[in-house]
Amino acid sequence: MSRRKLVVGNWKMNGSLAANAALLDALRALPGAAPCDVAVCAPFPYLAQLQTRLAGSTIAWGAQDCSAHASGAFTGEVSAAMIAEFGCRYVIVGHSERRTLHAESDQLVADKAKAALAAGLTPIVCVGETLAQREADETAAVVKRQLSAVIHTLAHCTAQIVVAYEPVWAIGTGRTASPEQAQEVHALLRRQLQAATATAAAMTILYGGSVKADNAATLFSQADIDGGLIGGASLVAADFAAIARAAA
Ligand code: PGA
Repeated sequence: MSRRKLVVGNWKMNGSLAANAALLDALRALPGAAPCDVAVCAPFPYLAQLQTRLAGSTIAWGAQDCSAHASGAFTGEVSAAMIAEFGCRYVIVGHSERRTLHAESDQLVADKAKAALAAGLTPIVCVGETLAQREADETAAVVKRQLSAVIHTLAHCTAQIVVAYEPVWAIGTGRTASPEQAQEVHALLRRQLQAATATAAAMTILYGGSVKADNAATLFSQADIDGGLIGGASLVAADFAAIARAAA
């Protein structure tokens, strides 16, 4: 099954109007930079800027989180419908930084994915084990449990999500999962999706965690790795473009 690759930048809490303008213009100007699907996910205040700067380009955009609720007394929260108003295609949910720093549970992440789909967005659902969990041989159990909550909540809509496998120990550490380690987990996740939806073979499963221009090609050449979720390297136009080219 040949799936089109997807490379998504996760800017995290980085950027400014001026820095974003320079980065986005550089991305738009790069010749042949997008032989695959490309998107950037920015902090909420910059979604309007992405909409203006990326309109008419081949680059899609999105947010890094959304509320599980549609509206109401949730001070500081941002709904999926609000995000959709800015032309976003994607929203990341369940990033490990949110699971850890904001104590997001598997069920909350699943509810956020459901809210995203209801607003017409594609949720990029992150799963991944910590170093302690990997060393305790719990990787399979952890990622299965995380994905299982999403599958149960979304039921027949599961096919509409993107999954991102991000081993927590590889995020921002410069320590990447080996292509074989990543492929093993991707294959496991795809088998789990296959049990839930008839179109799992067509679903996109991204790898994230210290993806750089020099390791992207071997990661993306694995059978079940359909692209990447890129943190640090997505803040440098030339590096991000090189990763996108590696997905070609
Ligand atoms: P990194 O981050 O590429 O900087 O490791 C990936 C992520 O957190 O999505």
